[in-house]
Amino acid sequence: MMSHQTVIVLDFGGQYNQLIARRVRECGVYCEVKPYTTPLEALKAMEPIGFIFTGGPNSVYDEKAPHVDTAIFDLGIPVLGICYGCQLMAHTLGGRVTAAQEDTAREYGKTETYYDTSCKLFKGLPAEGVSWMSHGDYMEKVPEGFILVAHSDNCPNVAIADETRGFYGVQYHPEVNHTQHGTDMIHNFLYEVCGALGDWSMGDYKRTAIRDIRENVGDGKVLLALSGGVDSSVAAALLAEAVGSQLTCVFVDHGLMRKNEGDEVEAAFSKWDINFVRVDAEDRFLLKLAGVSEPEHKRKIIGEEFIRVFEEEAKKIGRVDYLVQGTIYPDVIESGAGDAAVIKSHHNVGGLPDYVDFKEIIEPLRLLFKDEVRQLGRELGLPEYLVMRQPFPGPGLAIRVIGDLTKEKLDTLRDADAIYREEIAEAGEDKNINQYFAVLTNTRSVGVMGDGRTYDYTLALRAVTTSDFMTADWARIPYDVLDKISTRIVNEVPGINRIVYDITSKPPATIEWE
Ligand code: XMP
Repeated sequence: MMSHQTVIVLDFGGQYNQLIARRVRECGVYCEVKPYTTPLEALKAMEPIGFIFTGGPNSVYDEKAPHVDTAIFDLGIPVLGICYGCQLMAHTLGGRVTAAQEDTAREYGKTETYYDTSCKLFKGLPAEGVSWMSHGDYMEKVPEGFILVAHSDNCPNVAIADETRGFYGVQYHPEVNHTQHGTDMIHNFLYEVCGALGDWSMGDYKRTAIRDIRENVGDGKVLLALSGGVDSSVAAALLAEAVGSQLTCVFVDHGLMRKNEGDEVEAAFSKWDINFVRVDAEDRFLLKLAGVSEPEHKRKIIGEEFIRVFEEEAKKIGRVDYLVQGTIYPDVIESGAGDAAVIKSHHNVGGLPDYVDFKEIIEPLRLLFKDEVRQLGRELGLPEYLVMRQPFPGPGLAIRVIGDLTKEKLDTLRDADAIYREEIAEAGEDKNINQYFAVLTNTRSVGVMGDGRTYDYTLALRAVTTSDFMTADWARIPYDVLDKISTRIVNEVPGINRIVYDITSKPPATIEWE
């Protein structure tokens, strides 16, 4: 039995299901996503305080449309139906749902919506606001006992409620950001309708995850490829906490990391009694990369070499039962989108399972969004510099030294990049910028220093604001901050005599230069 209240998100195949779960968790209520095929007895055994039925791609009158055991409505447990979930509830309880005619109630996108604030779902919220619609079906007749509690200009029944039984249905998506006060509506459902106490936190998530991992792993041996990024670090910390000495973390130091980064990662894990293997593979990687200047070729070499080094280490360990991957929820969504053109082949550890023999993959962060992962990292006592680390590409500085690589160029870039990061943090600009780094171009230009002529490299500074890294704008760093960075770098880093600031957005440019 659960030690905290539980809400069940019943999954009918909609695209925002985990987002619903995340919103519920944000409201301080534990929740699990279960497929709609889960037997009623199993759902009952979880003793939920409420159900949320998700959206889904079907129409309720499709032959293969998913249904629920109608007895779910007799349990005395409140239900919030969203989109398909709303139509399903209406259909099951005796209403009538039909395909909307073009000019009537079919609605997609942002829609001005009017709410009845005497309904518990909208209590304390504005009576009017934008909601995010995406439904082709229309509730022609609402079931007995229900009343209409929201409408739009096009559609009279955007939301329905039977407050006596605690049943609510909305045609829009309260879980997406486009719906104004959407999270507040979910909050109202949980607290006003289901009687939530707010007894769940990331600390609980941590404890539950640790318990589950221990149960699953038993006395098995666990292997994890640590990159030093947020996701793999948090996954490593969680496993370290759960199974300690049964865990081996292999940290392949390819020599392409930022200044002091390798040592910082190692230091962060010194408090756990785990088998921490740091492989100094710099020479190997540089040898393989010598003379290579084409970005995709660099990525391919680094990806392959990474796997080779990891495989060698795994062999030394012998038997491995479980392989941990730091997959987070957005990765799960992205990997579903198969048709997108490959602009850059992002190297990550996804290719590993072919090369290492093991029983099972563990993905302990699979249901978490990035900011939840960071929060979990804090709960596990990881230092702030790891938890708040900005994204860093797998191939590291190899794709930030334009053209062919040498150790000398990498060191030059490392020194310049460290100054850049130091000054950005000093100016407090790091809070406004999502990713920033220096790029060593392969352009040399003439300069004058003291009495002498120089012929040195041009360094480019890049800084972007973005929420999804798919599109990005260049950050408006104040001129005096740029000035200080420029002055410091040309004075302190030999080999650089010119600094430029990249003022291109994505698209048309990408965030990285290679
Ligand atoms: P771009 O340059 O494609 O970058 O606009 C988008 C985000 O992805 C990161 N990036 C990579 N990450 N392997 C990675 O793991 C790669 O090869 C790679 N290339 C780009 C980039 O830093 C940015 O956050």
